[in-house]
Amino acid sequence: MSQEQNFGLSEKAKANLLAKMRGQAAPKIKHERSLEEQISPDLLRFDTLPCYTQLKVQQAVAAKLGFPDPYYACHSGLSQAHATILGKTYLNFSCYDYLGLNGDPRLLEAVSNAAKTYGISASASRLTAGERPPHHALEAGLAEIYGTEDCLVFVSGHATNVSTIECLFGPQDVIFYDALSHNSLILGAQAAGSARFCYPSNDTKALRNLLIEHRKQFKRALIVTEGLFGMDGCVCDLPELLALKQEFGCFLMVDEAHSLGVLGEHGFGVSEYFKIKPSQVDIWMGTLSKTFCGCGGFIAGSHVLIEILKYFAPGFVYSVGLPPLLAAASCKALEIMQEEPWRVAKLQANSRYMLEEAHKLGLDTGKAQGSAVIPVHVGDSLSCVILAHMLREAQILVLPIIYPGVEEGKARLRFFVSATHTEEQISLALNKTQQLLPKARARAADFSG
Ligand SMILES: Cc1ncc(COP(=O)(O)O)c(C=O)c1O
Repeated sequence: MSQEQNFGLSEKAKANLLAKMRGQAAPKIKHERSLEEQISPDLLRFDTLPCYTQLKVQQAVAAKLGFPDPYYACHSGLSQAHATILGKTYLNFSCYDYLGLNGDPRLLEAVSNAAKTYGISASASRLTAGERPPHHALEAGLAEIYGTEDCLVFVSGHATNVSTIECLFGPQDVIFYDALSHNSLILGAQAAGSARFCYPSNDTKALRNLLIEHRKQFKRALIVTEGLFGMDGCVCDLPELLALKQEFGCFLMVDEAHSLGVLGEHGFGVSEYFKIKPSQVDIWMGTLSKTFCGCGGFIAGSHVLIEILKYFAPGFVYSVGLPPLLAAASCKALEIMQEEPWRVAKLQANSRYMLEEAHKLGLDTGKAQGSAVIPVHVGDSLSCVILAHMLREAQILVLPIIYPGVEEGKARLRFFVSATHTEEQISLALNKTQQLLPKARARAADFSG
C-alpha cells in the first residue's frame, strides 16, 4: 500500500486506524482551532444576542412610526379604572386588580400594622429566619377556600411554578402541558428535565391521544393547565382533565392566577365554577399579585406535598420569605373578597357585558368566555401595536400582546376588566377600538407596503 492511499478514509480516521494497528493512542489532530480563534469578539458582547437584535428591530419600527415604547410606562399614582402617566389620565384596562382592592384603606391599614410589628422584610428564607403570623394566616385562608390540607406562599408567582414543578418531577417523568400555559409552567417543566408534550390549548381529545401514546413509557406524569387562561380568557375543561388524570394515572396541576376572585359564585376559582370538589386536584397554584393585590404565589395541596416543597423547592428554600406586610395585605384582600360578594358579582357582570358589547360591535374576542380577561384579536403584531398606540392617544390604556408572547398572526389587545369599571367606560373603550381598528390596519399595510 502506497503512502498516499487513503481508501476513502479521512486524514483523521486514517491516523486513528494506523495508531490503533500500532497499539498507540489516537494522535491529536493538529488543525483544531485555538480557543482564541473559536471565540470571536462578537461572542463577548451582549448586543449580538438574538433577543437584543429582535428588540432593536421592533423599536426601530416603532420609532419610524413615531410611537413611544408602549411598555414600562411610569404610572404616577394608584392605577385602577383610571391611570395617570406623565400627567395624563387614561381609562385603564392594563392592570389585573380584578376586585378593585389595590389601595383599599383596609389593606393599607393591614400593611401599616404589619410593618409596625414585623418591619418590611422577612429578612431571609423562612427556613432560617423563621416565619411570621401573617404567613400562617394567609396560608390557612387559602387552604380553606381550596379545601386542601395545607398551603405554602412563595415570594414570587413565577418562581412558585418553576420551583414546584422542578422539585417534584425529574428525567424519568413526563409532563403534558397546555399550549397556552404561562411561561413559568413551561420553564418549570424544562427545569425538571422531564419529557414534555404540549397539547393544543384546551383540546382534551389531543391530550388524550398524547396520553395513549406516551404515558406508559414514564414513571410519574403531570398534566398542567391554567384555570382561566390569561391569554385567551377561556376556562379550562376541568371535568375532562380530572377524568384523564384518573384514567391515565397522572397528577393534575391547575394555575389559578387569573381564576381566583374571578370564577365561581364566591370567586373561589375554577373548581367552584364547575362545582367540583377542589381536593380532586393534586396541585393548586395561584398568585397573590392579581385579585389579592400583593406579590408572590402559593401552592395548596396535601400536607405531604407542602412539606416536600418547604424543604426542597429551591424558590422557597433558597429565597427570602414573602414580606409579612404583603402577606397581611393579601390576607385582608381574601377576607374582603368573602365579606363583600358584590365585588365578584360586579366583576362577572362587567366581564359579561364587555364580551356581549364586543360581539355586538363585531370585534373578534376569540375563545373568551366573559371572565375578566377579554382579548380583542387583531391579527398581525404591527396592526396591534398601532391600534394600542391610537387608543392610548384617545386616553385608553390597553396593552398589545404580540409575537413572541403569542404566535405571529395571533396578536391581540388584552383588556383586563375590574369590578371598578363602569359599563359606560367599557362601552367607550370598545367603541373606540372598533372605530380605530380599520385605521390601524390601513396604517400597518401602508407601512409594510
Ligand atoms: C397564569 C400565570 N401564572 C403565573 C404567573 C406569575 O405570577 P407573578 O406575576 O405573580 O409572578 C402569571 C403572571 O402573570 C400568570 O399569568
